[in-house]
Amino acid sequence: MAVLGSDSRRWSGLLLIFVFLCSFITPVVTVKHENFKKCDQSGFCKRNRAYADAALSTSSWQAPYSLDPASIKFDNGMLTGSVVKTIVNTAETVRLPLTIAFYESGTARVTLDEERRQKGDIVLRHDSKAKKQRYNEAEKWAIVGGTTLSQGAATSKGAEKGTTNISYGPAGTFEAVIRHSPFGIDFKRNGETQIQFNNRGLLNVEHWRPKVEKPVEEKKEGEEAVVGESAKDTEEDEGTWWDESFGGSTDSKPKGPEAVALDISFPNYQHVFGVAEHAGPLSLKETRGGDGKYSEPYRLYNSDVFEYEMDSPMTLYGAIPFMQAQKKDSTVGVFWLNAAETWIDITKSSSSTNPLSLGIGSKITTNTHWISESGLLDVFIFLGPKPQDVVGAYTELTGYTQLPQQFAIAYHQCRWNYVTDEDVRDVDRKFDKNRIPYDVIWLDIEYTEGKKYFTWDPDTFANPLGMEKQLDEHERKLVAIIDPHIKNEGNYPVVDELKSKDLAVHNKDGNIYEGWCWPGSSHWVDCFNPAAHTWWKSLFRYDKFKGTAKNTWIWNDMNEPSVFNGPETTMPKDNLHHGGWEHRDVHNINGMTFQNATYHAILARDKEEDKANVRPFVLTRSFYSGSQRLGAMWTGDNQAAWPHLEASIPMLLSMGISGFPFAGADVGGFFGNPSKELLTRWYQAGAFYPFFRGHAHIDTRRREPYLAGEPYTQIITQALRLRYSLLPAWYTAFHEAHTNGAPILRPNYYVHPGDEKGFAIDDQFYVGSTGLLAKPVTTEGADGVDIYLADKEKYFDYFDYWMYEGPTTVSLAASLDTIPLLMQGGHIIPRRDRPRRSSGLMRYDPFTLVVVIGNSGDAEGTLYLDDGESFDYEEGAFIHRRFEYKSATSTLMSEDLAAASASPSRKTKDYLKAMEKVRVEKVIVVGAPESWKSKKEVEVSEELAGKSSGTKSAELEWHGKEEGKAAWAVVRDPGIQIGAGWKISFA
Ligand code: NOJ
Repeated sequence: MAVLGSDSRRWSGLLLIFVFLCSFITPVVTVKHENFKKCDQSGFCKRNRAYADAALSTSSWQAPYSLDPASIKFDNGMLTGSVVKTIVNTAETVRLPLTIAFYESGTARVTLDEERRQKGDIVLRHDSKAKKQRYNEAEKWAIVGGTTLSQGAATSKGAEKGTTNISYGPAGTFEAVIRHSPFGIDFKRNGETQIQFNNRGLLNVEHWRPKVEKPVEEKKEGEEAVVGESAKDTEEDEGTWWDESFGGSTDSKPKGPEAVALDISFPNYQHVFGVAEHAGPLSLKETRGGDGKYSEPYRLYNSDVFEYEMDSPMTLYGAIPFMQAQKKDSTVGVFWLNAAETWIDITKSSSSTNPLSLGIGSKITTNTHWISESGLLDVFIFLGPKPQDVVGAYTELTGYTQLPQQFAIAYHQCRWNYVTDEDVRDVDRKFDKNRIPYDVIWLDIEYTEGKKYFTWDPDTFANPLGMEKQLDEHERKLVAIIDPHIKNEGNYPVVDELKSKDLAVHNKDGNIYEGWCWPGSSHWVDCFNPAAHTWWKSLFRYDKFKGTAKNTWIWNDMNEPSVFNGPETTMPKDNLHHGGWEHRDVHNINGMTFQNATYHAILARDKEEDKANVRPFVLTRSFYSGSQRLGAMWTGDNQAAWPHLEASIPMLLSMGISGFPFAGADVGGFFGNPSKELLTRWYQAGAFYPFFRGHAHIDTRRREPYLAGEPYTQIITQALRLRYSLLPAWYTAFHEAHTNGAPILRPNYYVHPGDEKGFAIDDQFYVGSTGLLAKPVTTEGADGVDIYLADKEKYFDYFDYWMYEGPTTVSLAASLDTIPLLMQGGHIIPRRDRPRRSSGLMRYDPFTLVVVIGNSGDAEGTLYLDDGESFDYEEGAFIHRRFEYKSATSTLMSEDLAAASASPSRKTKDYLKAMEKVRVEKVIVVGAPESWKSKKEVEVSEELAGKSSGTKSAELEWHGKEEGKAAWAVVRDPGIQIGAGWKISFA
């Protein structure tokens, strides 16, 4: 062994110092682009972009699709017909069965399939029929309601020649104008076109064709196709019809080309939002190059995009192919139900009726081009006119967000990894010692024995039940990770069962698929298989997954699925799932099926074994439309860098308007070590994430809030306490999302759809219907922020009641210990102000109501409350109140929003009885009228069990206006129950 000389010792010393210093700096690292396809490396995307270029480059372009008028039938809210595709340069045609359904909700749905050859069919030379079924089961996973056909939809008279018109929607104000040739549809509201299908002629259904073996030419990876110069050339561009290679893997594409593509335009709509998940602005950018625009389409192909980059249309972990378009006072949307890899190009064009206007008064139209690799063309159309109408109709179809257990919306402490059960106990004790609230501590993959899920490392986690017991003492929970890759190793019962029951995903040859992930060689459970669900359930039983307790919940990671040695870090597209579907067909739904299996496994664990009726908590990384029904998501592996904190806000806003509001980003940043300032600002922002979890990579230094040191620990604790005190408002917002799909974080356009100036604002948001308007600080060294106030309304600083008046942009000081947070006039906000160790310990704490009086002089708000853990709320065990302050009578009253029932259920009675002791301890009126100045008392009357309990008085404390600040008043201990009807008279 060489002995180090003094020189080399000095160098190694310097190296150590360098490494040490580096660990304090967090460089922003960027994604390995070479691991992920660009459009021109994805055959079907390249073909369809080329098709679009060719079509749009000539004014004489005629889309080769027409609706056969003789085939059209309309009955009972549903139009059927046959779209005929003429194959370029041949006399052949392909018939595409069309359905257009009109639902009671006002939503329309267009599907195009491909006619299949049936046994015994006479095969005509000019009529080719597909030999395979296109994937048609996406709806089985994504759609849960809202598909009752409309009885009111009817063919409308006066259709121009060559069109069929159907009127539908509220009072028949919607209309679908179906053009026969070339086939296209204009969707109108009150006679005005809102959405157009195929008006640019880019509809392209790549039909089935037999493979004709040709002499093999030498191909270069990812460069197979030649861009056609005309549509005719592109149609014949066979370079990527069959097998296709990327990054050393070859996709055998046994079914050949089968993409579906369509142009969807939004005339006079200047903004489009949605198609989560991407790390970019809320208002989507154009994608065909140019200054400040992207040159790649937005991609949806769920992937483990390690160290993802900012401001990019690159795909991330989840896919929600739902887009909203916004113009002044009008929101419309489309939902592209397809589970295959999808790309979306966006361009905007400007139109002006007057050529001499130099663009003044011109209108922007947004054009989109949707391209999926396989499956049906299946699109839902929402005609608004309000954002709530569009999001509401979309969530009626795909389901409302789960009503989480209360602990799930409190603070979660995670890192990769808490290394022993004693470590977990120690962190738990330190939170208490430092008087910092938290509800959940998480275990990442290292708790297992050799990455074998459903096991515990016997050396480091010898006593998991003891650990869970300690957590339970303060009503805290444990979340343990379970991934979908199952270690391929002998003597591991889980893999043995997976194999013997044949429940894994298969490769293209029909053998069990093997790839690499955390455990090394692994197999993947195929959650498309109902038998896999049954088996998965059995694994979570307390007697099977020993060491878990009633306070153990689950984290599903890597479910895109992430396969370290697979193409684009995922599974080969020609792998096979249950039902014989290729992975290509179902890829974007894969993650949802896994979370779904876990959700039902946890439900069964507690229901069947324990007779408990508790709501599961399952976090997922990968998701699709509908995943919101099953739990929470987070934005994956971000970095401890300011741009990642900044990007988290538009990303979460985008999730919110896409029907999946239970979303968060790793607080502190996953990779790297945040500076203390960044960590502190991240906690302040995180206190406004619907899912609020600190998490860190295994190579980072420990960063539990109590380690930050002063003043940081104190400031972080204040941010956490703010979250805890506002939990009633958060829970009420979740309940609203659960009942009508409304986002929890609401961007400006959603709240003020008439205010064009605010449409692109994505760094501030309202929380539910509370009127709370937050703008987290996301830049280093900032000592203030500008907040845009869209409406003519008073806004008050949450902490000191400083008063602002919109519409304007106001500057707020925001030193490190300040969170810019305003209260919009006209709202009543429920809080619980007693500091506790966990949210479970707040169950019977009294409430504070903050009445924020705005320009009208009135205010209102709601509170939803239940046991925060069981499904008993479905049987009436909840409190739902509406509070209203009326200036005309100077009264604040509480009314019941729960439907009154003459015979309430036992569960309702028991819950209300248990809540009788929960009081309103304080009412704060911000912006209180000057006339109360000399008032010392208010009059309170309460109604209990339907009977008035007489009146009593309570003390009123007056705080006069100080310069710039509002006057406010406090009623202390009015002696009323939160669940009862009451009235406080300030007259
Ligand atoms: C990837 C996840 O995104 C991350 O949060 C987790 O810590 C690691 N996998 C290890 O399980």
